[in-house]
Amino acid sequence: MPAEVLTTHSPALFAEAVRRAVDILKSGGVVGLPTETVYGLAANAFSNSAVAAIYAVKGRPAYNPVIVHVASATMARECCTEWPPLADRLASRFWPGPMTLVLPRSFRIPETVSAGGNTVGIRWPSHPFMQAVIRACGFPLAAPSANPSNSLSPTSAEHVILGLGERIPLIVDGGHCAVGIESTVIDVTGPSARILRPGIIHADQIKTALEDFTLDSGSPLHATTTSILRSPGQLTRHYSPRAPLRVLNWTSDGDLVHQLADSNFPKDRIHILAHTRIPSLSLFPQTSFIPDDPEAFARALFGYLHACDQLNAALIVIESVPTAPEWEGIRDRLARASSSPTSLNYA
Ligand code: TXA
Ligand code: MG
Repeated sequence: MPAEVLTTHSPALFAEAVRRAVDILKSGGVVGLPTETVYGLAANAFSNSAVAAIYAVKGRPAYNPVIVHVASATMARECCTEWPPLADRLASRFWPGPMTLVLPRSFRIPETVSAGGNTVGIRWPSHPFMQAVIRACGFPLAAPSANPSNSLSPTSAEHVILGLGERIPLIVDGGHCAVGIESTVIDVTGPSARILRPGIIHADQIKTALEDFTLDSGSPLHATTTSILRSPGQLTRHYSPRAPLRVLNWTSDGDLVHQLADSNFPKDRIHILAHTRIPSLSLFPQTSFIPDDPEAFARALFGYLHACDQLNAALIVIESVPTAPEWEGIRDRLARASSSPTSLNYA
C-alpha cells in the first residue's frame, strides 16, 4: 500500500497530521517527516524494535548510527550520560537548528540507535512540525534521512514518496527543506570539539561560539574505512546521485567543451549546474543555474540532483564552489558525490 501523504498548510491540517504521525509513532511504526535540513524517517528512539524498523525500511547497514531528535534541552539530557560545558555552549548558540552533537549514550537509548557504540548523536531541529510531533509523543525520535540507503537525502515530500513511498504508512509534507543539506555533526565527547560532518553551520561560526574551547582541525574528509568509524558520513562516497558527477572549473564555453571531450555522452544527457559561468544553452541544453550564495546553493542542490536522477542524466557537471568556510558543507557533499563509485558507499 502506498504511503498516505498529509499536508500541513492550515492549522487544522497541521494538527491532524501531528495526530496521525503520533498515533503511528506511539505504536512503534516509522513515518517520513519534514525537518529544516532534509526529511527524516522517524521512530521512537527509546524503542529498540521501532529503531530496528528504520534500519529495515532504509536497508541501512547496522554499523551506521542514527541521530536522535529532541524538542527541549531536558529531553536532550535524558539521551546522554553527560552534558559537558562544551555541549552547552554549542547547544545554546545553535539549537534548535541544523547541528547534531555526539555525546555519551544514556541507558534509555537502545544500542541499535548507536550501532553498538557508546555515543549518541542528538539534534533539536527547528522545523515546527517535527517539534510538535516530538512534544506530542513525549519521547525523542530517532531519524536518519528518509531515503533508501545509498541514495540522495530528500528535501521535499515528493523525494520521500519516490524513495520510500511503498515502504512506510505515512509521509508528512512540510514543504521544501529550508537548509537542504544534512546537519553539521560535532563530536563533543572530548576536551575540544571536532566536526565529523560539515554542514551549513561552519567551522568559523563554531569557533566563534566556542569562545575559550577549541575546535580540532582534523579534516573529516579523509576517513575511508569502517574499522575506526566515528561517523559513516565521513566515508568518501556518500550522498550520491545515480549518474557520475564531476566538479569542474571552466573559463569559457570552449574550455568546458574541451574538458568534456573525453566523455562520449550526447550533450542533452550531460546536465550542467553553474553558478557564475553559465554555458550557452545551444551547446549544453541541460544547463541549470544555481544561486551563487552558499545558503541558497545548499537549499537547491539535492533537488537538482534528484531531478538529474529522474531525467536519467548520463553525466552531471557542477561548477566548483569557493573555498571559503561558508561553502564547506557544500564542498563536502560535492566531493563525496563525485568520488569514484568503487569507494565504499553508504548513506
Ligand atoms: O540533518 C540531519 O542530520 C538529518 C535530519 C533527518 O535530522 N539526518 C541525517 O541522518 O542526515 P543520517 O542518518 O542520514 O546521517 C547521520 C550521520 C551519519 O553520518 C552518522 O554516521 C552520524 O550522523 N552519526 C549518528 N550518530 C553518531 C554517533 N553516535 N557518532 C558518530 N556519528 C554519528
Ligand atoms: Mg543519510
